[in-house]
Amino acid sequence: MDRQDVVDLGEFGDELRTDPHPEYARLRERGPVHRVRLPGWADEAWLIVGYEEARAALADLRLAKDTSKIGVTILEQEMVGKHLLATDPPQHTRLRSLVTRAFTMRRVEQLRPRIQQITDELLDEMLPAGRGDLIGSLAYPLPITVICELLGVPDMDREEFRKLSTGVVAPADEQTANDAVVRLGAYLTDLIEDKRCSGPTDDLLSDLIRTTAEDGDRLSAQELRGMAFLLLVAGHETTVNLIGNGVHALLAHPGQLAALRADMNLLDGAVEEMLRYEGPVHSATYRFAAEPLEIAGAAIEKGEHVVVSLTAAQRDGDRFGDPHRFDIHRDTRGHLAFGHGIHFCLGAPLARLEGRIAVGTLLRRAPGLALDGTPGEWLPGLLMRGMRSLPVRW
Ligand code: HEM
Repeated sequence: MDRQDVVDLGEFGDELRTDPHPEYARLRERGPVHRVRLPGWADEAWLIVGYEEARAALADLRLAKDTSKIGVTILEQEMVGKHLLATDPPQHTRLRSLVTRAFTMRRVEQLRPRIQQITDELLDEMLPAGRGDLIGSLAYPLPITVICELLGVPDMDREEFRKLSTGVVAPADEQTANDAVVRLGAYLTDLIEDKRCSGPTDDLLSDLIRTTAEDGDRLSAQELRGMAFLLLVAGHETTVNLIGNGVHALLAHPGQLAALRADMNLLDGAVEEMLRYEGPVHSATYRFAAEPLEIAGAAIEKGEHVVVSLTAAQRDGDRFGDPHRFDIHRDTRGHLAFGHGIHFCLGAPLARLEGRIAVGTLLRRAPGLALDGTPGEWLPGLLMRGMRSLPVRW
């Protein structure tokens, strides 16, 4: 791929967020890696759209997350501290092992009855109306309630929190992003201080404060704040879109919906296909070349920005046959919706549990569920893939 041959993603227009698949398919036909101009970014970057190259890049430690190595400053890291997605080994290995001690499978499994209860309560409120917005009524409040309860975040105004966390992952502009990061960082500093002073409670954040490795290692105040920030933001914005995009895909394909209704044993596979077909994360978080490297013939120089488009990779026909068909029976193994390699999503078991309970309960309790007009605006930016509202009736 010639570095002179630059694709301006801005020219995709609104389709980049509403329906980028046709443009990505055209790009993929020309090659798996492209030199691109990203809307809102001054510098050019490399964009990976092929499945094999995407998977390899996600696990390639030459593509670094710690930007101090290449002299790039990121406000989020300055304000909230370095977290898992901003570090490389050995720092990453240490942080991941400390959080894994507190965020166990057992802890996730213990949440099952509570997730079911929150889902039922939300549906009790939603269903009498006969029609409504699935994002506002279920997809948004379920994960935020779960992650706040899990971490032990008290009843911070949820609307305010929604604005801040959407401001972090899908900001309308740079100023909104910066304000959101600063305010969320300040909120978490106070929260952690409160927890330290008021003594331990039975939640993940208290556990993280207490967690000490066998060799006596523990998280510093700054690392705790970074961890809490990442868990809160990653833990709900994404799951909102799993439920929203997933139900949208299902309702737009009545044959698949009927097959699932006829055999609810297909639910787990259907959720995996939702993750593949229209995953919640558009592109993986930033990576920068810590040394010169080559991907599919593209010569990437030290310091260059590499964007891995999960949305494009998951529709690569060389990996998933007939990739644009939504098929709940397909073999989805190897999908990249949760990433790959050392940064593979820490919250995948929780996200899957929430997704299965939300979609399964919704289908059981709303037998006539159908789309009710077109979805609201799709989120801006290249990080998230989801819609702001999804009108449905039942
Ligand atoms: C359907 C829902 C979710 C999706 C699609 C998703 C997707 C992802 C992806 C693609 C990555 C890797 C990013 C990269 O390599 O640049 C990731 C990492 C991560 N996710 Fe998730 N996620 C989801 C839910 C959650 C939940 C519920 C939590 C927490 C409770 C969570 C916490 C994290 C953390 C902490 C990382 C960083 C792991 C590391 O760097 O070691 N995620 N997620």
